[in-house]
Amino acid sequence: PLSRSLSMTSLSGVLPAWEEDELPVEDLLLFEVAWEVTNKVGGIYTVIQTKAKITVDEWGENYYMMGPYFEQNFKTQVEGCEPPNPAIRKAMDALIHNGCQVHFGRWLIEGSPYVILFDIGSAAWNLDRWKGDLWQTCSIGLPYHDREANDSLILGSLIAWFFKEVSWYKPNVIGHFHEWQAGAGLILSRSRKIPMATVFTTHATLLGRYLCAGNADFYNNLDKFNIDKEAGERQIYHRYCLERAAVHCAHVFTTVSQITAVEANHMLHRKPDVVTPNGLNVKKFSAMHEFQNLHSTSKIRIQEFVRGHFYGHLDFNLEKTLFFFIAGRYEFSNKGADIFLESLSRLNYLLRVRNDVTVVVFFIMPAKTNNFNVESLKGQAVRKQLWDTAHTVKEKFGKKLYDALLTGTIPDMNSILDRDDFTIMKRAIYATQRHSLPPVTTHNMLDDSTDPILSNVRRIGLFNSRNDRVKIIFHPEFLSSTSPLLPMDYEDFVRGCNLGVFPSYYEPWGYTPGECTVMGIPSVTTNLSGFGCFMEEHVSDPAAYGIYIVDRRFRSPEESCNQLTQFMFSFCQQSRRQRIIQRNRTERLSDLLDWRYLGRVCFCCTSNK
Ligand code: UDP
Ligand code: G6P
Ligand code: GLC
Repeated sequence: PLSRSLSMTSLSGVLPAWEEDELPVEDLLLFEVAWEVTNKVGGIYTVIQTKAKITVDEWGENYYMMGPYFEQNFKTQVEGCEPPNPAIRKAMDALIHNGCQVHFGRWLIEGSPYVILFDIGSAAWNLDRWKGDLWQTCSIGLPYHDREANDSLILGSLIAWFFKEVSWYKPNVIGHFHEWQAGAGLILSRSRKIPMATVFTTHATLLGRYLCAGNADFYNNLDKFNIDKEAGERQIYHRYCLERAAVHCAHVFTTVSQITAVEANHMLHRKPDVVTPNGLNVKKFSAMHEFQNLHSTSKIRIQEFVRGHFYGHLDFNLEKTLFFFIAGRYEFSNKGADIFLESLSRLNYLLRVRNDVTVVVFFIMPAKTNNFNVESLKGQAVRKQLWDTAHTVKEKFGKKLYDALLTGTIPDMNSILDRDDFTIMKRAIYATQRHSLPPVTTHNMLDDSTDPILSNVRRIGLFNSRNDRVKIIFHPEFLSSTSPLLPMDYEDFVRGCNLGVFPSYYEPWGYTPGECTVMGIPSVTTNLSGFGCFMEEHVSDPAAYGIYIVDRRFRSPEESCNQLTQFMFSFCQQSRRQRIIQRNRTERLSDLLDWRYLGRVCFCCTSNK
């Protein structure tokens, strides 16, 4: 779909000659390059994965994704096969004959796109030479200790080499590169004058991310930063140079939201040609209320987990318990986990005083761990044991009752169970006694004492004690249906929750609230996230549709915290019926976020400010 934006921009004389005539798709090859192809890190993976189906529908065999090869990812997600296009086979062979491994296959996601994956390790012996080439070409030097930058150069060099080989066959090529890690491929292809059209999409700027994480008053000072100096001080000057060079080398420069377009203009000194908001692959159910049923079944599974986690402390009513969550890459303040925790402490107070609702809040953000902790695993084991005990006693009870009924009598309920039955039940109950509070984290954290979420939990004292109405569960790993602790995919988990809370300060797009929307789950976002601004622009009263937008642009952190607390507190005051109605309304916004719509429209970059 992005190719449409190509023909919409007028860059005559800059693009290869064929652009002017708008070739049909059959005569073009489209390559999409990103570090996250078959490799989940964050939202860029979601962009590529969700867009695959609609792109394959349009481009068929002429569409290829390219990225780094990781054995485990390839084994679990890709079906190896022969490239159908001889030019691609030959280009791959040229690299392979020179000792660099390249793999080809179909990525097993919807649309089954072709992927070409380059083995960084197999080509690493060229690194010094390629660093020299980069230096000669554009005077960017990469320090030896920056593994990520070095890997991105190896990937870029392989990709530029691949394009060079493909170009012998004179196809019409479009290369679409995502984010600075794919930038080297673009810079080298252009500097070697390979005839191809290039698009560069930035999903964030390096400096924006770093400055915001460092607590700068970013949005009020966009035009005041000395960007070279800031990049140098953060030891990312070389990465920043790669990013900026890629942006300026590209024929077409795009970004994912208006707010990032403004940021890019200041941080990278190029105004994006078009803004391409991120979409999703929205699945429509034949029955309107199917997603409500899915909420219900997923919620039951989360409740089961909560029963185990809080064993011995289950003095709150699960029927009156709401599940909130935050999820994404672990960037504590950029993702707004700081103001979220502060607001939760205020919500805890409000609920203690004025409500009988309990809120269990999940933090799903990957951190360094050394596996699940014993206490969390034990919780699930205790729950299972109680379930098994109840089941055994029930069986016995049922059999005795049945036998009695067969003889025409109603048994004496007081003696139907014998002393042993009571003993095993008592033992099961005794096993639920615990000397510690239900744990805040499900894993053994490697940096427990300095971890920002845990440090703040300690500061505000939300330790899952009995009188807390807000309980915290920090799951420092992405969710998976194969987990022995909480065996659920992220999607099922989201469906089972009541509210997603994403009060980001730095968020070029922010998939997580959009994913909630298409599943009919209300969420909190901000007017500093691309998604929040997009909704503010396209929906007249987002809150009425379950999209709560916290003002982090024009209010102080204290005021934003109060606003977030109020959103959550009023959410807690809704009745079940009101929540059901709200979910119906939320889900109605799905079409707006569907690639079927967003893949066809481009938004002009409207402002320089
Ligand atoms: N995500 C996931 N598993 C999880 C939690 C999150 O796959 O357990 C995904 C989520 O579906 C979303 C992405 O992580 O698509 C985060 O993307 P977002 O754009 O919100 O933020 P980013 O991490 O890229 O800054
Ligand atoms: C869905 C189901 C209902 C269920 C409700 C729970 O709407 O169809 O049967 O009662 O979810 O909603 P709640 O907001 O309390 O999680
Ligand atoms: C980046 C941004 C995130 C965005 C994602 C996909 O990771 O941080 O806000 O949603 O890219 O564009």
